[in-house]
Amino acid sequence: KTPDSHVPRDPRLIRLTGVHPFNVEAPLTELFNEGFLTSPELFYVRNHGAVPQVQDEDIMDWDFTVEGLVDNPMTISLRQLMTEYDQVTYPITLVCAGNRRKEQNMVRKSKGFSWGAAGLSTALFTGVVMSEVIRRAKPKRKAKYVCMEGADKLPNGFYGTSVKLNWALDPNRGFMLAYKMNGETLRPDHGLPLRAVIPGQIGGRSVKWLKKLIVTDKPSDNWYHIYDNRVLPTMVSPEESANNPKWWTDDRYAIYDLSPNSAICYPQHEEQLCLTGGPSTYRARGYAYSGGGRRITRVEVSLDKGKTWRLADIEYAEDKYREVDRDLFGGNIDMHWRETCFCWCFWSIELSLEELSGAKDMFVRAMDESMNVQPRDMYWSVLGMMNNPWFRVTIALEG
Ligand code: MTE
Repeated sequence: KTPDSHVPRDPRLIRLTGVHPFNVEAPLTELFNEGFLTSPELFYVRNHGAVPQVQDEDIMDWDFTVEGLVDNPMTISLRQLMTEYDQVTYPITLVCAGNRRKEQNMVRKSKGFSWGAAGLSTALFTGVVMSEVIRRAKPKRKAKYVCMEGADKLPNGFYGTSVKLNWALDPNRGFMLAYKMNGETLRPDHGLPLRAVIPGQIGGRSVKWLKKLIVTDKPSDNWYHIYDNRVLPTMVSPEESANNPKWWTDDRYAIYDLSPNSAICYPQHEEQLCLTGGPSTYRARGYAYSGGGRRITRVEVSLDKGKTWRLADIEYAEDKYREVDRDLFGGNIDMHWRETCFCWCFWSIELSLEELSGAKDMFVRAMDESMNVQPRDMYWSVLGMMNNPWFRVTIALEG
């Protein structure tokens, strides 16, 4: 029995940190087979502690405060949020900054647990644009950051972090306060009844079970903001990082935007490809994403360890979902977003028998519209975050 015994969970999810807290990803191919939107049952979960319990009858009375450097501090209930503000629905991919950390841990153990490449998921989130709420609170001139705090009480206080105020005030960045996923009430593991969703940035900024927005002139001093979600310089060892606080207080090392990343879902690692008697080509497939609303503009595949590359086809499923069934999702998908990408995309490439014969492995790399490209080499860091070198699977041809 754990503090979360009341929370329903899908047995297909792979547990990454023992019984409690709950940190899970789906098997990579099952996640990929779900398609663009991940069902709530297979959506990855990253919990630092126990899931706060909320009774059904109390959901609409859940409230949060907007406080700090504002002229008009507010306490807003979920009922008010749903009735007094415009509602929007956006497709958004959330990605844990630890996605693909397992590969780092295999090179050298980091302080984090071993995510495979399925530490990401996509949903249609419904809620209110954060900028609307913050504008009504009237931030003061010197305000620079928005700190967020959840209701989960952890060994080092409530979970919390911060983002820049000018990002939060920009409606095109799509920061939102969400209470629905894929048209349903949020599940307990994903923040029931209210969470922040910060598109294009690491999942750690999307605070669940949201209780406070605090407008400040400094980044959050919450323990989880300081000691989590950072890429420290590569030479900083676990011992050095433990002994020297300067690494944790410098906000330049905090991660916000995601960087370009991709994975091969088919073939699976160590898969034997069977091309005899069947089709004469193999279609390799996978996903790619970048951060900050930047579109993935190319995905390349190599069968000779990066000497030569072939261009893969890319499907931007997100674009289709902008036109999704409007009745079902509240009729409010924002059309201003046509060129902004806050979701993963899918790539595929048809490979011939000749190309595949003799190949021992397959690499993929993605590039975004700012020409940020995945590096060949891993950048190891003590928390093992933002791992994004070329993704590799080993393969063999059967027969
Ligand atoms: N918010 C609270 N209150 N508590 C948490 O433990 N984990 C963060 C973020 N928000 C967390 C939180 C991290 S590290 C990630 S990656 C995302 O939630 C995961 O969101 P999900 O579990 O809905 O996929």
